[in-house]
This record gives sequence, structure tokens and C-alpha cells, in this order.
Amino acid sequence: MSAPSIVILTGAGISAESGLGTFRDEGGLWAQHRIEDVATPEAFARNPQLVVDFYNARRTQAHAATPNAAHVAIARLQANHAGPVTLVTQNVDDLHEKGGSQDVIHMHGALTSALCATCDNRWPAPLTMAVGAACPRCNAPAARPDIVWFGEIPYHMERIERALSAADIFVAIGTSGNVYPAAGFVQMARHVGARTIEMNLDPGENAGLFDETRPGKASDTVPVWVETVLAG
Ligand code: APR
Repeated sequence: MSAPSIVILTGAGISAESGLGTFRDEGGLWAQHRIEDVATPEAFARNPQLVVDFYNARRTQAHAATPNAAHVAIARLQANHAGPVTLVTQNVDDLHEKGGSQDVIHMHGALTSALCATCDNRWPAPLTMAVGAACPRCNAPAARPDIVWFGEIPYHMERIERALSAADIFVAIGTSGNVYPAAGFVQMARHVGARTIEMNLDPGENAGLFDETRPGKASDTVPVWVETVLAG
């Protein structure tokens, strides 16, 4: 039998033990900031400084953070599993890359990237972005964080759907199952007969849709699961 095709979806919970706050846990980012103020295109149009400052703070925090055992274990799986391992993250930090993952699909964008709102050019974001910074390609003063805000379309959906349609195993790690389309991936995986596993501290909104739930901290549950898969 050929090695199973694995799709992994990660959320803020996988980076929690690296010191980065989640969104919806008690005291999380959305308890401290209103989504409408910092994470929508309208917020950026209304008060770009507030939005850019919010992401500058998060970029600085992510820059200083180090990956934990869960990030490292996933990189080990990607490097050593005989079949495909597609890693999709909702996270905008780069802890998967720092943990050794070579191919990470950032469906909600990345703090390390800047985007030109005029010509769609992308370039490495400085640690502190300035409002109205010029695009290095078209020179428009239209730099913005390369983050998918509420109301915008997530990146790489075609590639993700292709991977899901061929999945034998789908695993969601550290995500509350509140935000679509990511929250619907488990249904797409089930549809093609994949085995579905949730690894979360608290059950997500869509926990009932998974075949199996492995509760606990990602740094405990993920390395154990990876070793089982690699042991065949
Ligand atoms: N290990 C495993 N899971 C954890 C841990 C941990 N150490 N700590 C917290 N969790 C779980 C929580 O139980 C929760 O289910 O991680 C989940 C975090 O949920 P959210 O804060 O809602 O984060 P996420 O699902 O990634 O949010 C999705 O919403 O606003 C946005 O765009 C943002 O990408 C984000 C999206």
C-alpha cells in the first residue's frame, strides 16, 4: 500500500506555547482589539496607522519567538514521510519555517511579507512597516501588511482544495474551527473518505465532524502522532 497523503491545517494554538497569543481563548487578541478596528480593509482605509501598528507589534513578537516541539515534529514528518504532506496554516507567523518546514501554505498571509495595494507586488516586510511606504516596483505609496483581512479571499485555495481532494488523512491542530473556509476543510476531507483528526486544547466549534480527537497541548500531542505515522 502506498504511503498516505496527509493534509495538516494549523491555527494559532500551535504557536501558543511559543508565546504568541491566540485569538479567541480567554484574554486572546480579539478580546484586546476589535476585529473591525484592526483586521478589515475598511479599518485600514479609515485608520491605517492603527492597523499597521497592530501588525508591527505582532511582527516584532513573532520575530522574537522560537518554534516549539509541534512545529519541529511537523517539519520532521514533511522531511521523512514517504507520501505527500501538505501543510496549510492560518497563522501569519513564520514558526513553521523556523521549525524547518520547507513548504508552508500561508492561507491568511504572512507578517514577513508586504503587499502593494496598487500593483499586488510583494516584498519582504521590514520589522516596522510605515504607513504609505512606497512599493519598490511601481512606487505607489501603497504598502500594506500582506495579511488576509476579514472580507478578503484567502490565498492558495486552489492548491489547498486539490490537496484535500486527494487526502487520506486530515489533521487540524490548534484551531477553533470558527473561521471559514478553513473550518470547512474537515468536511471536504470527509467527503473524499479521509480519516480526520483534531488536536486541540479545547474542542473546536466543528469538533463533532472529526473521526478522532486528541486533546492536549500541541507540543505533547503532535510529536506523538508524528512518531506513530513515521513508524508506519
Ligand atoms: N495546543 C493546542 N491547541 C491550543 C493550545 C495549545 N497549546 N492553546 C490553545 N489551543 C487551541 C484553543 O483551544 C483553540 O481551539 O487553539 C485554538 C485557537 O483558536 P483561535 O484563537 O480561534 O485561532 P484560529 O483558529 O487559528 O483562528 C482562525 O481567525 O481571526 C482569525 O485570521 C485569524 O487565522 C486566524 C483565524
